Amino acid sequence: MKSQNELGVPVPANKPLVVRTIKQVTREQREYVLKKTEYSMFSFPADLIFVDFLSDSGSGTMTDFQWAALFHGDESYGRNKGYYVLLDAIRDTFERGDTPNRSINLILSGETDVNKLMDELYVTSFEGGFVNGGTHQLTRPNAFIVPQGRCAEHLLFSTIAPILKQKNKDIINYIPNNGHFDTTEANIVANGIQAVNLFSTNLMDDFPYDEMDKRNPFKGNMDLKGLEDLIKEKGVDSIPLIYVTITNNTAAGQPVSMKNIKEVHKIAKKYDIPFFFDACRFSENANFIKEFEEGYRNRSILSIVQEMFSYVDGFTISFKKDGLANIGGGFFFRDKGVFHKKFSIDEDIGIKLKEKQILTFGNDSYGGMSGRDIMALAAGLYEVVKEPYLYERKIQVREFARKLAQNGIPILLPAGGHAVYIDMDKFFEGTDMKIDDFGGVGFTIELLKHYGIRSVELGPFCFEWDKKTPEQQKGILNLVRLAMPRNVYSASHIDYAVAAITELYHNKEKIPKVKISRGAELRLRHFQTGLQPIYKN
Ligand code: F0G
Repeated sequence: MKSQNELGVPVPANKPLVVRTIKQVTREQREYVLKKTEYSMFSFPADLIFVDFLSDSGSGTMTDFQWAALFHGDESYGRNKGYYVLLDAIRDTFERGDTPNRSINLILSGETDVNKLMDELYVTSFEGGFVNGGTHQLTRPNAFIVPQGRCAEHLLFSTIAPILKQKNKDIINYIPNNGHFDTTEANIVANGIQAVNLFSTNLMDDFPYDEMDKRNPFKGNMDLKGLEDLIKEKGVDSIPLIYVTITNNTAAGQPVSMKNIKEVHKIAKKYDIPFFFDACRFSENANFIKEFEEGYRNRSILSIVQEMFSYVDGFTISFKKDGLANIGGGFFFRDKGVFHKKFSIDEDIGIKLKEKQILTFGNDSYGGMSGRDIMALAAGLYEVVKEPYLYERKIQVREFARKLAQNGIPILLPAGGHAVYIDMDKFFEGTDMKIDDFGGVGFTIELLKHYGIRSVELGPFCFEWDKKTPEQQKGILNLVRLAMPRNVYSASHIDYAVAAITELYHNKEKIPKVKISRGAELRLRHFQTGLQPIYKN
């Protein structure tokens, strides 16, 4: 008899105990609302949608452990207890590998031994890692809590931009990434720095869907030759940071291999450039490494995460990803590391960052988060590295991809960690749809209008193809993303979506081209502009 793990289907990892009833909206009602909201995916009321694949960001279901932690939230203005719990949860997750402290349990178990609480949580001292503690946190702050990932990006880039000017006002600075996400790129550009995408050269290669369980080509990797060429062409002084996004959301949610991380680390070290992660979805990335990279099969997720982060000088992170929490973000850098050395010019860079954090988000012990959210986030860090959860999530996304591929829909394969991406160039092959007709946007409008399913274009409309130079246009893919919130949808939602997308594919001639009717010049325009689909008669 086969064992439970040999059946070929995952052992269930959870059971939902709260459900929300979906409203039975008609096609005509959605059509009316679409007109009223200028056909913008971001403006359509979520309550009127059947299946919402807009984003996995903050849209997941929390676990009972997280809800329990939330009740311990402390809303004090200075040094709420969750602050200490969260900082130690970050040390546990990113630095301690298989030996976490889990000091969150002191709070959840109602520990009353004051000496123990002082020694293990409130006045204990740490230095040399990503999260200084005790007096080191005061004199050399290196951990900054903020409400979301983009706040961390804003904090980082708006603080270093004037320092770069001060160092050399005549050069243009470039930040390379294996794939900048939209807000990352926008925050870099808003601070006068150029954002360069160095996608893996195999990204658009074909991959058979029936091999998804067997191998993975790590298409999220950074193009290493591209990186060295950029450093040589622009000069070391023009590259303030190297950034690697795990997983690579802009490149179809594809994972980055440990080998690639190590190689980037080597290059960064050779040129003495700080190396950072955009660490959104770090645990999904670690799970890919465990499954597909040689030598990691028997390692725990925590030890893989520990190794991944041992190669970087710092990271920005949205804690809304990976199904971790509904809100939260942060910026962390290695105590006395390359970043600290390079950017502490007249004053400690951590002190400068802390000043800006207080000015813009709130004092360093809450950074714009409520005490309840801080506790739920700290608990979420322990939930998200659990293997049964990661396994089930991976299989769900992979099954979605497999079913679409079996129906002939051109999706990017293998499936990424958090979403399925449709290749819109291939989707519209045989029609007269051109790149600047924004066919991907037309697809999202029709999918929502006819079937009540929301997706998002991550292509020429979102990344502003028409405003870019031919060189920059090469860094834009033409994709539509269906992102999977954590523990929200089941096989029935997926089957409904597969049937709907297949029907649209068979009727692709009827999908409208789309014009921007208002606000084409706006920055981050996909959140803001009005759209007009042009239907053929
Ligand atoms: N970096 C990556 C790779 C992201 O995917 C996101 C957000 C951010 C940074 C910004 O984080 O939303 O907390 O400010 N991505 C979401 C998405 C919005 O739908 O993929 P944030």
